[in-house]
Amino acid sequence: VKDFNGIDQVLLRNPQGASARVSLHGGQVTSWRNAHGEELLFTSTKAIFKPPKAMRGGIPICFPQFGNCGALEQHGFARNKLWKIDENPPHLPLSDSQGNSFVDLILKPSEEDLKFWPHIFEFRLRVSLATDGRLTLISRIRNINGKPFNFSFACHAYLSVSDISEVRVEGLETLDYIDNLFQKERFTEQGDALTFESEVDRVYVSSPSMVAVIDHEKKRTFVIRKEGLPDVVVWNPWEKKSKAMPDFGDEEYKQMLCVDGAIIEKPVTLKPGEEWTGRFELSVVPSSFCSDL
Ligand code: BG6
Repeated sequence: VKDFNGIDQVLLRNPQGASARVSLHGGQVTSWRNAHGEELLFTSTKAIFKPPKAMRGGIPICFPQFGNCGALEQHGFARNKLWKIDENPPHLPLSDSQGNSFVDLILKPSEEDLKFWPHIFEFRLRVSLATDGRLTLISRIRNINGKPFNFSFACHAYLSVSDISEVRVEGLETLDYIDNLFQKERFTEQGDALTFESEVDRVYVSSPSMVAVIDHEKKRTFVIRKEGLPDVVVWNPWEKKSKAMPDFGDEEYKQMLCVDGAIIEKPVTLKPGEEWTGRFELSVVPSSFCSDL
C-alpha cells in the first residue's frame, strides 16, 4: 500500500485480524493493531509523513547514532532514508518465521551517506507479526568495510497509553540510568516501579531482557522482550517540550510513552565481516496476567 506521499508501506496481517504497517521510509513501523483493530502504537495527529524526517510515532530506527552526541544528525540517518525490500533475506531460525507474517527490508549507505559516515554496512531488518499478535523487529547489521566501525542503535517505540499519569514501568528498578535532563549525569533508580509526573528522558543501562509497561486504565500491559539490546530509553516530553515540537500536539504527551530497546552506553564495535543482531519484541497482555510472567 502507499502512504499519503506515495511511499510504499508493507501491510502485515495475521489470521486473527491483527495487523502492522512498515514504511520503506526509515524502515519504520507506522502501525500495530490488535485483533480488535485497536491501534497499539502512538502516532501524533501532527505527524509529518514526508521525508527527509522520521514520522512522529510508530517505531523509528535510530542508527548509527543515538541522540545527538556524535557527528551525525539526531538519532542517525537510518530513520530518514528510503529502505528497500530485501530480495535476498537471511535464513532466520524457524521460530522467527513459522506461521508469521513478515517483511525483510535492507538499507545500504549511499555515496552521500559515506561522506558523513564513511563505513560500508548492510542493515537487514525483519519485521514480523506472529499469529498471537506479537510484533518483532530483528535487526542485523553487517560490516562490509575494510576496517572496524562503532555504532549505537535503538528501536524507538512510541507506545499508545490511555493516561500517562496512570502508567507504571516495571523491570527497571534499582538500575543505573543516564539522565539526559541533567547533563547526562548517572543516577540509580530507587523506586518500586517507574511512574510519571514530569518530563522523563533517560537511558537505563544493563537492563533485564523483559520490561513491562502497565496501563492501569486500559487494564493492559505491553511486554517488551529484547536480546542484544542491554539499554532501555524512557522518554516522555511532558507539557513544555510538547509545545516546542512542531510535529506533536500540545496535549499528546498524555497518550504516549517511548520505551526503546537500545544499545547506547557501550556502542557496538563491528570488525570487518562481522554481524550484530538485535531483537525487539512487543506483545500486549491483560494486566491481570502480569503477575504470572
Ligand atoms: C528520545 C530522546 O529518545 O527521542 C529525546 O531521548 C528526544 O532526547 C526524543 O527528544 C525525540 O527525538 P526526535 O529527534 O525524534 O525529536
